[in-house]
Amino acid sequence: MVRTNTRDEGPGLTHTPVDTYYDPARFRREVDILFRQYPIVVAFSGQLRRPGDFVVHDQTGQPILVTRGTDGVLRAFLNVCRHRGAAVEQKPCGANKRAFVCAYHGWSYDLTGRLVGITDGAAFGDLDKASHGLRRLKVAERYGLVWVVPSALADGEEASLDIDGYLGALTRDLSGWDMQGWEVHSSQPIRPHMNWKLVIDTFLELYHFRYLHPGTVYPLFHDNIATYERMGSHMRWAAAKRTLDGIEEQPKETWRIRDHAIVFYSLFPNTVLTYTQDHCGVFTSFPVTPDESVMQFSVLVPPEEKAVKPESYWKANVDLFAAALVEDFGIGETIQRNFRSGANRVQTFGNFEKALGWYHQEVAEAVA
Ligand code: FES
Ligand SMILES: [Fe+2]
Repeated sequence: MVRTNTRDEGPGLTHTPVDTYYDPARFRREVDILFRQYPIVVAFSGQLRRPGDFVVHDQTGQPILVTRGTDGVLRAFLNVCRHRGAAVEQKPCGANKRAFVCAYHGWSYDLTGRLVGITDGAAFGDLDKASHGLRRLKVAERYGLVWVVPSALADGEEASLDIDGYLGALTRDLSGWDMQGWEVHSSQPIRPHMNWKLVIDTFLELYHFRYLHPGTVYPLFHDNIATYERMGSHMRWAAAKRTLDGIEEQPKETWRIRDHAIVFYSLFPNTVLTYTQDHCGVFTSFPVTPDESVMQFSVLVPPEEKAVKPESYWKANVDLFAAALVEDFGIGETIQRNFRSGANRVQTFGNFEKALGWYHQEVAEAVA
């Protein structure tokens, strides 16, 4: 494509109605279906290596607590005390937990979620402890990522989640990147005044790089040279870096895609992974209101790379990406404001914006 200056063409124009980005009924359905019934990335293996490690996650709108038991098993619960509903863990993350003790009246739960202690228990008569454990959630840990389905399971319902079945053809790629041992370098929330899907849209084409990012990331890339593939409800795409030039003179055995492209994955419904030479960026977009979202921007790094590169190197990488996000979300917030203006009834996606058409089709089908 670089040689012939061609583009990865699509099926022609596609569209999505602009009201899908602000209509409150549509928003409600997206939350109820996509953020309650689908597997959502809420944590990383690097945060939950040892028994007693835990992570609290509230961004889906459900209070989620993920922890590793002394048996090594990762479990997820609703972070809700079965007495009167207080959060049983108030810290965002931590280690060496033996039990979760509710700060309100001191009820305690072990790492498997069992209610093990009721303070002044006699006052609760014959309350059945066994049926007052923390409510469990479906959870899966694979490829260094932790997915949870944020809806309470019924007693006795199976908590395991067939994440490979969900990822389908993507499992080959993700097992190839082999992120199980990677460390979380950093993780920060960004809160744009944009619909959560509009946040994902900013990742789905390279067309805008030349115009919106001339002083940040564009100099690294060829102009709009990218390939896109739909993989079930997920997608992958790769964006060519300028270092690709001259690669034909190098022996083929030395070619590594990560040196000359960023490889992107969309994990339906709300996560984008970006693989570069030596790290992975993880971007998860969560709905707050129809017009607001919170995007968690995390950087995962292989330990052998972290050991040999100084913190200033990683910080420069994170800062460059963050600077591009400021540009993306600056323009995105104008789009969100303009949706209700009456100028456009639909968003228009050109041939090489086909990933946007695929993505919005997937969302529409899921909520239909
Ligand atoms: S609400 Fe947790 S012990 Fe009362
Ligand atoms: Fe961008």
